[in-house]
Amino acid sequence: MPRVTFEDESKSGEFPAGKTVLSIAGALGVKVSQVCGGDGACGTCRIEVCQGWQNLTPPTPDETYKELEPPYRLSCQAKLVGDVVVKVAKIE
Ligand code: FES
Repeated sequence: MPRVTFEDESKSGEFPAGKTVLSIAGALGVKVSQVCGGDGACGTCRIEVCQGWQNLTPPTPDETYKELEPPYRLSCQAKLVGDVVVKVAKIE
């Protein structure tokens, strides 16, 4: 199973492909803001992809509409394909 590591939090685990990074953060006890509850609307669940950009599903229209660019993804939209290392993005 793919491994997900939250670099800043030193938390890591193996999860089935197809799970969203947001749900994985919840399972690992990593706090990620999610004002819209995972609908791709609020943009607060941003993560920075440190390694394995290609190991997440491609950006959804909700992400391209918000003009999110690498290394950032919406964790509620990005689903696991392979190993990734991520950080919770600071929102300014
Ligand atoms: S939780 Fe709102 S966009 Fe991801």
